[in-house]
Amino acid sequence: MKLGVIGYPIKHSKSPIIHQYWMDSYDIQGTYNLIEIKPENFKEEINSLIHNGFDGFNVTVPYKEKIMLYCDDIDDTAKKIGAVNTVIIKNKKLIGMNTDAFGFIENIKSDSKFNFKQKKCLVIGAGGASKAVIYGLIESGVSKILLANRTKEKAENIKNIFGNKIEVINFNEIENYLSSVDLLVNTTLLGMTGQNNLNLSLKNLNKKALVADIVYNPLMTDLLKEAEMQGVEIVTGIGMLLHQARPAFQAWIGIMPDLDKTLQNKVLS
Ligand code: ATR
Repeated sequence: MKLGVIGYPIKHSKSPIIHQYWMDSYDIQGTYNLIEIKPENFKEEINSLIHNGFDGFNVTVPYKEKIMLYCDDIDDTAKKIGAVNTVIIKNKKLIGMNTDAFGFIENIKSDSKFNFKQKKCLVIGAGGASKAVIYGLIESGVSKILLANRTKEKAENIKNIFGNKIEVINFNEIENYLSSVDLLVNTTLLGMTGQNNLNLSLKNLNKKALVADIVYNPLMTDLLKEAEMQGVEIVTGIGMLLHQARPAFQAWIGIMPDLDKTLQNKVLS
């Protein structure tokens, strides 16, 4: 198996740790490489992966949208999200898929007792990650998604894609809605090491709500710490990263891998 992850920059990607761990665990011969591609070389580098016998690759920032132009086929989930994070190469053809929504939903399912059906959610952020989260929430049966983003127009664009379950709210009014939501999710990079914090007071938050962050560096973001102080249930972001890798591994190798603490600790260290 010849696999890898493309991006620019790429050196911080944790994907090699995850996929190499599973290849070793399941006794699969293969390599999973970091593949840095400069934007000006994109087309040539993708062609060279095909001609060098790669079986597939993951796609990260900033290429999740660009790679779609080079795919021969794209699954419905990736089309709706508007981004591909996993590519299978078969007979020199590229097949694009998106496993981020699966990763987000599976993480919540495995780390909490949250039941998505008919729930009201508040999603912060309207970038690529937000679309995967929203796709996953709608597929899982939530009834309503309040969507807040600094740049309101991007939230309106997401509403145009996903429809009337979405209600766009003002970024500076999030706190006014917290008493009525069942799930609060941060999909922005706020709270990540080196970035600003979200600076959200959760004192109005519904005490039965679940708070999830997709940031995993640090694992306990300020948002999650504040949620814990309010006594509400939390789900950290590391599981989304681990779970999104599972269907990719399955697509390439035919085995749906299990998660374990050893892998989680390797990725976090
Ligand atoms: P990703 O693909 O990881 O979602 P992205 O598409 O660049 O990354 O989206 C980043 C998200 O973080 C956006 O919702 C962005 O808000 P804008 O659309 O207004 O840019 C949000 N974000 C980044 N920095 C922010 C900040 N300082 N304050 C508020 N939101 C911020």
